Amino acid sequence: MKGNGIEMRGLTVTYASRMGTVNALSGINLTVPSGSVFGFLGPNGAGKTTAMHVLLGFITPTSGHASIFGEDVQGSIARQRIGYLPEHPIAYRFLTGREYLQMAGSLFLLEPTQIKSRAKLLLGQLDLIDAADRRISTYSRGMMQRICLAHTLMSDPDLLILDEPTGGLDPSGRMKIRMMINDLRTRGKTIFFSSHELSEVELMCDSVAILADGEIVAEGKPAALVGEDKSLERYFLRVTGTEKEIGP
Ligand SMILES: Nc1ncnc2c1ncn2[C@@H]1O[C@H](COP(=O)(O)OP(=O)(O)OP(=O)(O)O)[C@@H](O)[C@H]1O
Ligand SMILES: [Mg+2]
Repeated sequence: MKGNGIEMRGLTVTYASRMGTVNALSGINLTVPSGSVFGFLGPNGAGKTTAMHVLLGFITPTSGHASIFGEDVQGSIARQRIGYLPEHPIAYRFLTGREYLQMAGSLFLLEPTQIKSRAKLLLGQLDLIDAADRRISTYSRGMMQRICLAHTLMSDPDLLILDEPTGGLDPSGRMKIRMMINDLRTRGKTIFFSSHELSEVELMCDSVAILADGEIVAEGKPAALVGEDKSLERYFLRVTGTEKEIGP
């Protein structure tokens, strides 16, 4: 797929709170090419989730605009092609994992045979076959994360917006997500995700952008950014000014 998966131009979000106004995003510009795996990084409170919420149409930016595959994010057409995994995913706990995926398939008007086969494929890829017919209320945190990711993928979306997809997962769970993201990339999907696992990001991403206090402070291919800092983590700490907090 050609063109850009995501574009943000002069994106500004100001929240009004009891403590006054918070400038969560201060005029950010960002381009995520279609078919790429893009890591959206930044310290806690940098504005990553806020930017994702604008892409999903949950909040209207104070100024600037954002588009998905060339369509303004305020239009529902753009959102039909998105799969979104929120920062704190929650599934219907009274359903079994398989039922939860079947429900997603029905919502997207998939054919019953397609729903069955897609649910089976995703349960297998995310190592949930043994738990598929148990209620989600019995799942561990990592299993909840994986069933929610499977739910996100049921409609086979062209753009995945994943807010910390590997949060709470053990090393094998994280590896499964990495493999899945690689598989999605080979199928031409665009993946835009946030993460604090910088060694993982270094392995997976075509490009990254680093956000600090609502501004983009670095952007490029991980290998090109790292340079003399030796690791993305060291680079990140330097450009976000957070290395001062931990000392040499
Ligand atoms: N609804 C809201 N009302 C007021 N302030 C908010 C609201 N949501 C977020 N903020 C503030 O906006 C800033 C950006 O928050 P955001 O959740 O986008 O950060 P983040 O980069 O996703 O952080 P994390 O890594 O902790 O998930 C923070 O200062 C946060 O306190
Ligand atoms: Mg967040």
